[in-house]
Amino acid sequence: MKFLLVSLAFLAYTCWASASILERNLVCFYNSNAATHTGAAHFSTADLEIALQFCTHVIYGYVGIKPDTFQLMSLNENLDIQRRHFATITALKDKFPYVKFLLSVGGDRDSGEHEKYINLLEAGRQKQTAFIDSARDFLRSYNFDGLDLAFQLPRNKPRKVHSDVGSAWKSFKKFFTGDFIVDEKADDHKEELTDLIKDLKNTLRADNMLLSLTVLPNVNSSWYFDGPAIADSLDLINLATFDFLTPERNPEEADYTAPLYELYDQNRLPHYNINFQVENWILQRVPGNKINVGVATYGRAWKMSKESGTTGLPVVPATEGAAPAGPVSKTPGLLNWLEVCQRLPNPSNINAKGAEAPLRRISDPTKRYGTYAFHTADEDGANGVWVSYEDPDTAASKAGYVKAKNLGGVALFDLTLDDFRGQCTGDKFPMLRAVKYRLL
Ligand SMILES: *[C@@H]1O[C@H](CO)[C@@H](O)[C@H](O)[C@H]1NC(C)=O
Repeated sequence: MKFLLVSLAFLAYTCWASASILERNLVCFYNSNAATHTGAAHFSTADLEIALQFCTHVIYGYVGIKPDTFQLMSLNENLDIQRRHFATITALKDKFPYVKFLLSVGGDRDSGEHEKYINLLEAGRQKQTAFIDSARDFLRSYNFDGLDLAFQLPRNKPRKVHSDVGSAWKSFKKFFTGDFIVDEKADDHKEELTDLIKDLKNTLRADNMLLSLTVLPNVNSSWYFDGPAIADSLDLINLATFDFLTPERNPEEADYTAPLYELYDQNRLPHYNINFQVENWILQRVPGNKINVGVATYGRAWKMSKESGTTGLPVVPATEGAAPAGPVSKTPGLLNWLEVCQRLPNPSNINAKGAEAPLRRISDPTKRYGTYAFHTADEDGANGVWVSYEDPDTAASKAGYVKAKNLGGVALFDLTLDDFRGQCTGDKFPMLRAVKYRLL
């Protein structure tokens, strides 16, 4: 009898353990702005429903904070509240009871002063309580399961170009001009953020609500996050490990924007890759099963000049900032997966010239750095483009990395930039699916 009980207990334990090992997160970021877009970029609630069968969490982006009181606020009241989009989205819980619905604050959408988030950290207990209480009330009113903190904290300075010329002298000078110190009070801010996260979780815990942290691209984890101190208060840690370089931050050079590993040449910065960022958290003994690796559903596109050469080999020199916007996403320097897919060689563009000319695709058999595609500048300097992007295969490789390292899962940024109509291969949400199947 005793033996039977012990073995039953053991059996229960192994089932529980294997279930918890097999169940990985697929955190789906959802940019609600896309509900207001028109034409091919319009993303409907029905589109979201197709995605939700693959997601474990959906994160509604984004809300902001009021500059004076630090209370949570909608950034689009007409959509979120008057047109009841918050409520419409969380009503999907009935259909998808296993999916958790979170609301994200910040995420580079909270325009106005970026210092708001630093101000909140410095504001002291009373004002932080206003933030915390308003967040809880918001989540309750609109039936969310938790809050995601995607605070807009100061960024790493991008690498200077031409830095190999007299670089020792320059960095010496910079040190004394204070040029590379982005936040002199980073240590204080880290402590303040730790307290805020703990207080917030204590409040949310009473309502059984989740707290997640999203580290935005180029926000330096070493400066702002005390891993061991905050890990217990966080249910998810989403690392937005992409956009290490962008045409906006690095107009004069193009490179892999989201490599898995470091490429040891050409003076690349050692922290601009996924593995470094993940290790930074793991080395602090933050439980790996809370860490979700961010994968973008878009690429970053630079304009190649005639001086950028013809090989396309990164680091590409002498680029001229952002390439023109794509027809759907309409954002300079950004091409979503569908827009990249349509520029790759296919029967309809194979003889096209000029701005429509097919891009030459260079894949990465090592699966360590990523794919890119390019078209060198024409004789008159026009139509040059170089894009570093994710496709379903590279996204799946990243999911493979997550499995091999036994991390929590993948955070996809975001659903509305995936090919949700299936115009590329016929499959709707090909990026999302590729990640899901590899995570299984
Ligand atoms: C933060 O920035 C410093 C200095 O630029 C760098 O050495 C460090 O690796 C960065 N940390 C992370 C996690 O990126």
